Amino acid sequence: MPENSRVNDPTDRQLGLRTPEGVYATRDMGTFRLRQMGQKGAFRLEILVLFDSKGGNTYALAKAVAEGIVEVDGMQPRMRRPKETTPMEVIRADKTWSEFYDFKTAEIPEVKLDDLAETEGLALGSPTRFGNMTPALGNFIEGTGALWQRGALVGKVAGVFCSTGTLHGANELTLITMSIPLIHLGYIIVPLGYTDRGVTETTRGGTPYGPTSVSGLPDESAADVELRLCRVFGKRLAEITKKLRS
Ligand SMILES: Cc1cc2nc3c(=O)[nH]c(=O)nc-3n(C[C@H](O)[C@H](O)[C@H](O)COP(=O)(O)O)c2cc1C
Repeated sequence: MPENSRVNDPTDRQLGLRTPEGVYATRDMGTFRLRQMGQKGAFRLEILVLFDSKGGNTYALAKAVAEGIVEVDGMQPRMRRPKETTPMEVIRADKTWSEFYDFKTAEIPEVKLDDLAETEGLALGSPTRFGNMTPALGNFIEGTGALWQRGALVGKVAGVFCSTGTLHGANELTLITMSIPLIHLGYIIVPLGYTDRGVTETTRGGTPYGPTSVSGLPDESAADVELRLCRVFGKRLAEITKKLRS
């Protein structure tokens, strides 16, 4: 095990995301401090994978994006979720929502503003809410004013992914509306583009704007392409982040 590294993140263990050495740099040894230490290249650059999910569909996409990120040597994901804004009595009244909430809050740390400042890139994922990200994610973005004012995120790399229930229920629009605040914050937006034949061949999710899923379609056997495009996207985001931020 290299010096200054240890496995300390239950999310990483749970995802089974392992580097060839089998370890990650710790969260508190983020790239911000490592750069200050002048040890560029000795540690991994992080991409924040920040997602919300009520029923697990966007979580599945987030995991696949993270898998794509670790395919790139020297890159690692930092998985986070926003603070919940829905009243607990509403969540507890829905069995599926309630169970996934318990899983999510146990396994995924809540995002802090420092997570944006400390990481080199961002993959932002959300289930659609009538064409927008969830209120919980929007609430977190609402708190980024101080980072925005001092230009702390300018020049970092970001991409978006989402899940909708229906094919024409704002699959692409949600990615566009999610991108707008990131553009204002100064992120360089990286799309999926037509970088993989899956974007052309899919009968479900998977758009040039970013990877997506359509959770309400019956033919789940065709859903593999959605996850494959998330891995392609995660890898592309990591490659570009590495080039720009190393
Ligand atoms: C309040 C609300 C609004 C939604 N609006 C839409 C919509 O406009 N179009 C759509 O296709 N799905 C919509 N959905 C469905 C979810 O976005 C979709 O089921 C998604 O796959 C859920 O992802 P998750 O399992 O990660 O929560 C909505 C769901 C909720 C609760």
